[in-house]
Amino acid sequence: MPLWTGRFSKDIDPKTNDFNSSIKFDSRMFQEDITGSMAHAAMLGAQGINSAEDTEAILTGLQGILDDLNSGALEIDPNAEDIHTFVEQTLTARIGNAGKRLHTSRSRNDQVATDDRLYLRSQCDSLIPQLSQLITVLCRLAGEHSETIMPGYTHLQRAQPIVFGHHLLAYAEMFLRDIGRLQDARKRMNVCPLGSGALAGTTYDIDREMTAKALGFDGPCHNSLDGVSDRDFCIELAAALSLIMVHLSRFAEEIILWCSWEFKFVELDDAFSTGSSIMPQKKNPDIAELVRGKSGRVFGDLMGLLTVMKGISLAYDKDMQEDKEAIFDAFDTVSMCLTAFTPMLDTMKVLPENMRKAAAGGFINATDCADYLVGKGLPFRDAYKCTGQLVALCIEKGTTLEDLPLEDYRAVCDLFEDDLYEAISLEHCVSQRTCLGAPAPENVRAEAERIVSLLG
Ligand code: ARG
Repeated sequence: MPLWTGRFSKDIDPKTNDFNSSIKFDSRMFQEDITGSMAHAAMLGAQGINSAEDTEAILTGLQGILDDLNSGALEIDPNAEDIHTFVEQTLTARIGNAGKRLHTSRSRNDQVATDDRLYLRSQCDSLIPQLSQLITVLCRLAGEHSETIMPGYTHLQRAQPIVFGHHLLAYAEMFLRDIGRLQDARKRMNVCPLGSGALAGTTYDIDREMTAKALGFDGPCHNSLDGVSDRDFCIELAAALSLIMVHLSRFAEEIILWCSWEFKFVELDDAFSTGSSIMPQKKNPDIAELVRGKSGRVFGDLMGLLTVMKGISLAYDKDMQEDKEAIFDAFDTVSMCLTAFTPMLDTMKVLPENMRKAAAGGFINATDCADYLVGKGLPFRDAYKCTGQLVALCIEKGTTLEDLPLEDYRAVCDLFEDDLYEAISLEHCVSQRTCLGAPAPENVRAEAERIVSLLG
């Protein structure tokens, strides 16, 4: 039975009830729904809107429902219209008339907007530690690989030497910003819609500060229409979650490349790899691929939410019931991805010799060779040109800048001397990159420590 009997002479069509009902996906908010109702009931009691006796019965009844749902003694009715209906009707079935006084000065519109915010707030609070954990693993690996030389790439072409730790800390920075975005969104979301009623507040003498405070909100929202009719917080969170997936997906893509025989920079632990049903030699990075693939779901959730919201009139429209599946799916997906991704990374074997080998090819010290000439007084543009000629000569001779004889260097520019070889050694190239944000090993170690200290 829905809550809205009285005006209707017929029951809702059963299939339409399934279509209209949100119980399948909003029942996960039972805890928030009951907590919100308890705060509301306590306020009605404190304001003398409900008697002390009824208030006591409502609060005890709600606590009993919460306990029974948690213990499994009470099951949620899959035919209820939504979680709000289920809780209120169960309460009335258990405590009688006092239960009918719970909904005084409240609508499901401010109720659902409150539940949404409470639920998503706790989702943020459990996702942020997952991101911190990932960053902690990145910092540990970065500390261990502050001297592991690898090629840095642009256009997926070998570009300049870096260390593996520096590459990993780039992701740590991205995930730190992701935490910041969740915290920002959480802060904006943390205002209480209770008291907005259906759309126009209420004529009862309610205390909105009291309910807001009891539920841990920073305060009540200031416009009743806005309180019940925006879901911008869902969209902001979905955008923040989408960015997390962009970062995870890029990282996953690199891990997939690094696992290939063409790179072989890392090897994933057997516990985080899969095999092929036909090719006995295969070890596949399915987990990383799935993380990359699941980014599509989260972007879809964001697009869905934007589209739901873009054309609906103020205040509440039923379209907004669609907020839940999208934002819940986005949180579930990101959380699941992190649950698999972080230990995959934590157990990954790094193969420094292969990174070093890759760094030795591809002339990634060419910039340093040009910088050597700048150090000898040549303008950079001329130094660049000379080095370009030397690279062309190496390619022609099938050698590298490290192995090219000094006379070949001197034939191009007589500023070259014996100390050139030290200047272009990869260890030297990396160790000289000491400016803030650059990959010198001591920088990487210090940055890893700084980032860990930020996590608190
Ligand atoms: N199940 C609804 C939702 O999720 C609750 C609000 C119902 N309000 C209404 N006016 N029909 O949005």
